[in-house]
Amino acid sequence: MQAIVFPPYKNCAPRPLSEIQKRILELKRKRKAVILAHNYVCEDIQLIADYVGDSLGLSREAKNASAEVIAFAGVDFMAETAKILNPEKTLVLPDRGAGCTLEELCHPSELAVFKRDYPDALVISYINCSAAVKAQSDIICTSGNALDIVRQIPQDKRIIFCPDKHLGSWINEQTGRNMILWNGYCWAHTQYKADELLRLKEAFPGAPLVCHPECPREVRSTAECVCSTEKMISFCRDFPGDKIIIATVVEMIHRLQREIPDKTFIAATASGRLSQHCKNMRMNTPEKLLACLEKLEPRIELDSAQMDAARAPIERMLEMSR
Ligand code: 13P
Repeated sequence: MQAIVFPPYKNCAPRPLSEIQKRILELKRKRKAVILAHNYVCEDIQLIADYVGDSLGLSREAKNASAEVIAFAGVDFMAETAKILNPEKTLVLPDRGAGCTLEELCHPSELAVFKRDYPDALVISYINCSAAVKAQSDIICTSGNALDIVRQIPQDKRIIFCPDKHLGSWINEQTGRNMILWNGYCWAHTQYKADELLRLKEAFPGAPLVCHPECPREVRSTAECVCSTEKMISFCRDFPGDKIIIATVVEMIHRLQREIPDKTFIAATASGRLSQHCKNMRMNTPEKLLACLEKLEPRIELDSAQMDAARAPIERMLEMSR
């Protein structure tokens, strides 16, 4: 079976904080820092973070953070977004090498050339892109607000959507648009196979399948719910049954378990894999989080003109999202 079964959290023995977790919390107080963590980072970090959430929630938290230091457990585009929204803060990331396939697949110079073919088009970029790509975009979106944002754009306006072709095709399907799609994808979400997921559903009759919109269309078509990581929490909470299949990065299950302790979560995996993971998110270890709070390095530093150019489309996203 291509899955890992996580039993209801209420049946799991509580774990005391480890030495390293205690040291991180101590140092966090000393540094007057806040720890923001994405839903995909390891459980040990999620448990001591001040906020755990999706890209949209993290952007809002970062913008409003009053702490002197933001320690961002996530990947570089998320930490860069936080810095752009709150540039006075010291922004540290446990591993500066934690990137994103989507970001790698959309080089700013290629986007600049691509845009020349569609001079009247609006550029909406998924937040999973570099600051330089954001700076060339009109509006940023996340998977949590993409539909909402695209629906606010007049029907006759041409849109270039980059860099995720799968998220883009999902938006096209849901809104009836015909956006021009950049040819990027997320490694982790494109590993799933529709036939394996259908077999998994047969093994757990009645359990709905929830997947992220970064999954390809054939995979999405097997799902009862396609949504952002934050919306997975509300879908699973509201679903009346007690078993749910999740097709996204496996660490998502930790938050689902904590917030919905009476349900069983089945984490789908793709053939040949022990678990569905994101190698970049896995670079966030408690040891590296401790070290970055100790040294206040590695830091996110960006050119201020580029930050100004990238801030406008991010702020537009925040204004346009409910
Ligand atoms: P969410 O905003 O839904 O958490 O997605 C982030 C992401 O990078 C998914 O791969």
